[in-house]
Amino acid sequence: MVVPFFRDPDTEVLFGQDGTRAETDIPFAEDVALVEEELGLEFAEPLAEASEHWFGLDSSEFRQSGLVDHARIASGRRLYEANCQGCHGADGDGGGAAARFLSPRPRNFRKGVFKFTSTATFEKPLRSDLLRVITTGLAGSAMPSFFLIPEEHRLDLVEYVRYMSMRGEFETLMLDVTYDEEEFADATEMAEIVRERWLPSELRALLPTTPETPDDDASVARGRELFLEDALTSCAKCHGATGKGDGPSATGFEDDWGYDIVPRDFTGGVFRAGESAEDLWRSIATGINGTPMGQFSGSIGSDQIWDLVHFVQSLTVEAK
Ligand code: HEC
Ligand code: HEC
Repeated sequence: MVVPFFRDPDTEVLFGQDGTRAETDIPFAEDVALVEEELGLEFAEPLAEASEHWFGLDSSEFRQSGLVDHARIASGRRLYEANCQGCHGADGDGGGAAARFLSPRPRNFRKGVFKFTSTATFEKPLRSDLLRVITTGLAGSAMPSFFLIPEEHRLDLVEYVRYMSMRGEFETLMLDVTYDEEEFADATEMAEIVRERWLPSELRALLPTTPETPDDDASVARGRELFLEDALTSCAKCHGATGKGDGPSATGFEDDWGYDIVPRDFTGGVFRAGESAEDLWRSIATGINGTPMGQFSGSIGSDQIWDLVHFVQSLTVEAK
C-alpha cells in the first residue's frame, strides 16, 4: 500500500509523495493510523490505554501526580466547550471549525508549547501566564479577551488547557518515539519526561533584577545601539534596523507548528503579549517559544533589556 506521507526524522515535518510539505494540521488520529500502517504494529489502542493510565481524568496515577487541580476540570471543560472549542478544537489540537480561516492559527495545545510565558525558553508556562493570555487576549490575533468571565472560572479554563496540553504532549511524544524506534515506546518513561517538564515546583518566572531605567533619550539611544549590535543581540537582523520586521534574516522562518512566521513589525504598535514596559521586558527576556525568537535574559543584562524596551516603544511612538 502507498503511504501518502513520510516524516522527516530530524524536523518531524510531514512531506507528501512529491516532496512538498503536507498539510500541517493533520488530525492526530490520522498520524496514528499512519504509524500503524507504516510500522505494521498496533498503536492506537495501547496508546489510548497508556494515555488513560498516566493522564486520564479518572486515573488515580494522574490524580496523585498533583499536576492539575482536579476540582477545576469539570467547570473548565464546560467553559472551554462554550468559549474556546470553535477555534482551539475539541481536544485542543487547534483544529476548531473556524481555525482554517485564521492567521495566526489558533494554538494547538497538544504540543505542550506556549509562546507568551514568563519562564525561561523551552519551559512550560506558569498558571499566571495562561491566565494573563486568557484575560487580555492576544492583540493582532483572533484570540479574544475573556475578562468578562470571572477570574475563578478563568482559572478553571487554565486548568483545563494545562490538562489538554500535558495529555497531548504525552501522546505526541509516544507517537514520535515509537516512530523513531519502530517499537511501542516505554510509556512509563515518556510519562515521567512529561511530568517533570510540568512540575510546578521547577518553574520560576524570569523577572527584572534591576528597576526600569528612566525612559529618556539616553536610554533609547543605548537601546538602539544594542538593537543594531549583531554580535550581541541580532535584533535588527530579524526585525530590521527601523523595526519594520524586514531585516536581512526576516524571511523563511517557520514556527514549531509548521506555519510561516515573520518577525514583528514594531511600527504598528501592536504587541501580542502586551505593550507595557513590563510586558515587553518579559517578551524580550524570555523569548517567544516555538518561534525563532529566543531568550535574551542571561546574554544581556536586565537594565539592557529595559533600554531595548524603550527603543522598541520609541519606534511605535514615532510612527503614530
Ligand atoms: C476566535 C478564535 C479563538 C477563540 C474563540 C479562542 N482563541 Fe485562544 N487563541 C487563538 C489564536 C489565533 C491564538 C494564537 C495566537 C498566536 O499564535 O500568537 C490563540 C492562543 C491561545 C493560547 C496560547 C497562548 C500562548 O502563550 O501561546 C491560549 C492558552 C489560548 N489561546 C486559550 C484560549 C481559551 C482558554 C479560550 C476560550 C476561553 C480561547 N483561547 C478562545 C484564537 C482563539
Ligand atoms: C531570529 C529572529 C529574531 C531575533 C534575533 C529577534 N526576534 Fe523578536 N521576534 C521574532 C519573531 C519571529 C517574532 C514574532 C513572534 C510571533 O509572531 O509570535 C518576534 C517578536 C518580537 C516582539 C513582539 C512580542 C509581542 O508581544 O508581539 C518583540 C517586542 C521583539 N520580538 C523584540 C525583539 C528584540 C528586542 C530582539 C533583540 C534583543 C529580538 N526581538 C530578536 C524574531 C526575532
